[in-house]
Amino acid sequence: MPGFLLRAAFTVTLLTAGSGTAFAAGDPAAGKSVFQSTCSICHSVQPGQNKIGPTLSGVVGRKTGSVAGYTYSPQNQAANLTWDAATLDKYLEAPRAMIPGTKMTYGGLKDAQKRADLIAYLATLK
Ligand code: HEC
Repeated sequence: MPGFLLRAAFTVTLLTAGSGTAFAAGDPAAGKSVFQSTCSICHSVQPGQNKIGPTLSGVVGRKTGSVAGYTYSPQNQAANLTWDAATLDKYLEAPRAMIPGTKMTYGGLKDAQKRADLIAYLATLK
């Protein structure tokens, strides 16, 4: 409980551009460790460095399927979404529900707080 309160005191609230919808406060430091244990096997955070999945450098604010030199599935390529707090939250909870046919073979992150932390971290990757 004290840990949670401490963390809550240092969180950043993510707002989706324009809509004014507030999401759960995310802690980028906690999100970094979620990323390292869960996503880094397939994704780099270095610009231009694609692994099994495309680099996640600059992912917040970019369009689906827009990393040069990475071969996406047709479904991800055609999704025509912008990755922001709202779309990432939905996608990371259940990737194949949001983009059926995606070749991201990751089942999803069910813990809303961990997703918020992860998205806060992704937002720092410019
Ligand atoms: C088993 C490997 C694997 C894991 C684990 C994985 N991904 Fe992916 N990810 C992929 C692949 C492959 C794609 C490309 C999907 C496609 O083209 O259909 C992708 C695509 C994405 C995209 C869309 C990128 C774009 O440019 O449109 C995002 C965002 C993403 N992953 C975030 C994450 C996050 C955050 C995690 C950790 C929770 C994660 N992924 C875990 C393999 C993985």
